[in-house]
Amino acid sequence: MPTTIEIRSLNLFYGSFQALKAVDLSIEKNIITALIGPSGCGKSTLLRCLNRMNDLIHGVRITGEVRFEGKNIYDATADVATLRKRIGMVFQRPNPFPLSVYGNVVYGLKVAGEREKRIMDEVAERSLKAAWLWDNVKDRLDRPALGLPLDQQQRLCIARLLAIQPEVILMDEPCSALDPIATSKIEDLMLDLKREYSIVIVTHNMQQASRVSDSTGYMLLGEMIEFGPTANIFTMPARKLTEDYITGKYG
Ligand SMILES: Nc1ncnc2c1ncn2[C@@H]1O[C@H](COP(=O)(O)OP(=O)(O)OP(=O)(O)O)[C@@H](O)[C@H]1O
Ligand SMILES: [Mg+2]
Repeated sequence: MPTTIEIRSLNLFYGSFQALKAVDLSIEKNIITALIGPSGCGKSTLLRCLNRMNDLIHGVRITGEVRFEGKNIYDATADVATLRKRIGMVFQRPNPFPLSVYGNVVYGLKVAGEREKRIMDEVAERSLKAAWLWDNVKDRLDRPALGLPLDQQQRLCIARLLAIQPEVILMDEPCSALDPIATSKIEDLMLDLKREYSIVIVTHNMQQASRVSDSTGYMLLGEMIEFGPTANIFTMPARKLTEDYITGKYG
């Protein structure tokens, strides 16, 4: 598979604390890449680097490169708003806007200046179908999104992303607020979405990483300890540190 994001010697400092240490990683297109590792190892920090969400945090300093489709996203000339459209993010807690279901899905289009109802209707239906939510909400598109069950809220957040046609979807523990049935539905959805999108997921759940991902990176104290095909990481890790973690001997 061709590479979409290439991370080279990435260092990140929160003030004087170094949270990422010389991280190298290649993220391929149309696969699911999982980032695993103990709490505080830098998974969310690394994920946020991929669409420059860390720019919003005061006192962050970054060195190294993140090349997306060949261009360093940290170049002075990079357009961050466009970058965040092309690389969208889904968070731990679903965060629909306090609008209707419909208002959430077409939000990005409206911001981009779209006014034609026919086009917005089309995009809303297509995105809700792609997020496996259409059948749940088609009769109540005008109802408040915050009234939906949590798992539907999370799929709505995914639909809202799909509406603006990203290339990469970043997910930071997208199932951590969900029960096992809702979790398995999101996992199936991810497997469906990877046909069209490249997905990077942070998860604490090693079963989840082994079920859905194609490649896995194991991080510890800001370093990428090992990265490779998921089957290898879980069955024959190259490094002892990885083995200790996946067999539960860590800590
Ligand atoms: N805004 C911040 N300011 C200062 N330090 C931070 C900030 N955000 C994270 N850190 C520190 O950076 C390190 C990495 O944090 P990060 O949230 O990326 O870890 P994580 O692997 O996602 O952990 P978890 O599994 O608990 O979500 C931790 O030591 C954390 O305390
Ligand atoms: Mg985290």
